[in-house]
Amino acid sequence: MANEFESIESVMEKLADARYIADRALATVLFLAHRLEKPIFLEGEPGVGKTEVAIVMAKLFETRLIRLQCYEGLDASSALYEWNYPKQLLHIRLEEKGARAREEIEQIIYSRRFLIRRPLLEAIQWDGERAPVLLIDEIDRSDEEFEAFLLEVLADFQITIPEIGTLKAERRPMVVVTSNRTRDVHDALKRRCLYHWIEYPSIEKEYDIIKTRLPGIEDRFAKAVAGFMHRLRDVDFLKKPGVSETLDWARALLAMNRNALDEDVVEETLGCILKYEEDIRKFKEEIWSDEEKRAAYL
Ligand SMILES: Nc1ncnc2c1ncn2[C@@H]1O[C@H](COP(=O)(O)OP(=O)(O)OP(=O)(O)O)[C@@H](O)[C@H]1O
Ligand SMILES: [Mg+2]
Repeated sequence: MANEFESIESVMEKLADARYIADRALATVLFLAHRLEKPIFLEGEPGVGKTEVAIVMAKLFETRLIRLQCYEGLDASSALYEWNYPKQLLHIRLEEKGARAREEIEQIIYSRRFLIRRPLLEAIQWDGERAPVLLIDEIDRSDEEFEAFLLEVLADFQITIPEIGTLKAERRPMVVVTSNRTRDVHDALKRRCLYHWIEYPSIEKEYDIIKTRLPGIEDRFAKAVAGFMHRLRDVDFLKKPGVSETLDWARALLAMNRNALDEDVVEETLGCILKYEEDIRKFKEEIWSDEEKRAAYL
């Protein structure tokens, strides 16, 4: 697998070979991010394939995926580095009876050996042949202070550890930032990145995704599932199903030896696609109990 993106078409082809279906707009962003060495910012509803982009990029470039999962309260030290206190303490104990001066011991325990590298430092210090892919997943879950800190790191991929000095990345990692947009991410961060909003897929795209991910599935059945999901997303649910739900559902149906949708099997497996009791009830009451509407889904 070549490690270059020659054209937008070739990006689409390579992604498809790696079992990821991308439309031209996304392929363009990936192509440009690669050429211009810019981070990619992907936003979209849950389960539309944001995280998977980073996973597939690492696969295509045959390199490591370094993942920073964001959460509320995530701070710089958990994302960058920490000192290994237990190991430092142990070392101090062992040195107690030795002849080393205090300064010397301090120098030892604040050296790289005692550093725990968290994802960002790991990406900066990466010494592999090819730049790694750094996935900063679900940035919207972290606090704004963390975002500001991240902005600094993304600016020049260099950090200063007071006890050690300044470390700079030899190869800029390919950065993929994702957000479910539970809050707006600061413009300054977005400005630094190439932005792309991933929509729910069209019927055709979802059909392609199902066929790629579940190669054994019959065309007709894959079409039926894609059509059903497309229609389902028009309903005002608390949580609309993403592509993950589509694939889970199709897998479940295949495991039940089904190769067509019918009234009963849909009802029995609703839990694969709707994850709120209110949504399931709404679906049953407003759609499934109505013969005409039901027919449109099947
Ligand atoms: N375009 C696509 N081609 C192939 N598989 C896809 C595509 N989009 C989504 N998938 C599949 O759907 C699943 C969900 O994708 P992913 O986890 O990347 O979604 P996400 O947008 O990160 O969701 P969340 O916001 O919940 O984290 C994965 O198993 C992925 O393989
Ligand atoms: Mg994700």
